[in-house]
Amino acid sequence: MEYIFRIMRYDPLKDMYPFFQDFIYQTQEKKSVLEALMDIRNEQDCTLSFRYSCREAICGSCAMVINGKFDLACRTELEMFESSLIVIEPLPNLEIQKDLLVDMEPFFEAMSKIEPYIQTEGGLSEEGYRIEEKEMEKIFQYINCIMCGCCYSACPVASRDERYLGPAALAKLYRFVKDPRDKRPFSNWSRVNTEGGVWGCDTIFKCNEVCPKNVRPADGIEALRRKLVVEKVKRIFRFKR
Ligand code: SF4
Ligand code: FES
Repeated sequence: MEYIFRIMRYDPLKDMYPFFQDFIYQTQEKKSVLEALMDIRNEQDCTLSFRYSCREAICGSCAMVINGKFDLACRTELEMFESSLIVIEPLPNLEIQKDLLVDMEPFFEAMSKIEPYIQTEGGLSEEGYRIEEKEMEKIFQYINCIMCGCCYSACPVASRDERYLGPAALAKLYRFVKDPRDKRPFSNWSRVNTEGGVWGCDTIFKCNEVCPKNVRPADGIEALRRKLVVEKVKRIFRFKR
């Protein structure tokens, strides 16, 4: 089978603008888009740059736009395409470092702001923690996030407002706030009660649409909004008593 890989190229050290370059790629085997990119790099152009690590849809590093769809290159099989033309672009709204490599710093910076780790009272228990299955069900989809950045990159709010933490970070915060082991104080997570936090979301649901792991970040943002309002009301009543 012969494919035309139309790949966006850009080297900020020598190119004025990004451009598309075509590569003819032939294979008789079942290959993923990532494997094809590796073959093209190894056999046709060793300067082609892209990021990957696990090759098993776990690390999130090979996210890109493939024929207009946000996806992981390592889990996208060539045989699923009806056309032999495969257009590959880097994630939008993030600075291109080279070709398909983008600067993920804004995404990880937002993630670090929500302190994405369990915060307990008095340190970790040596006996471990038991969690009811029904409690886990509430956070399970958010645990599946592999931090690929697709939702952040597709989000129209994150693209226009640098204050906005973005869908993945806010959904991740909800995952910890709902985790029965996490005891972070209200003063910690209520910091997202802002335009740069949960109220910045335009509820366009693009994040839900593009996530390759079926996480629904917008649901987490909505749930955080509700929880913030409920907590605020509870606090007002407690104060008045
Ligand atoms: Fe990627 Fe989905 Fe996590 Fe967003 S929520 S970073 S799209 S895995
Ligand atoms: Fe890890 Fe694709 S290489 S998700």
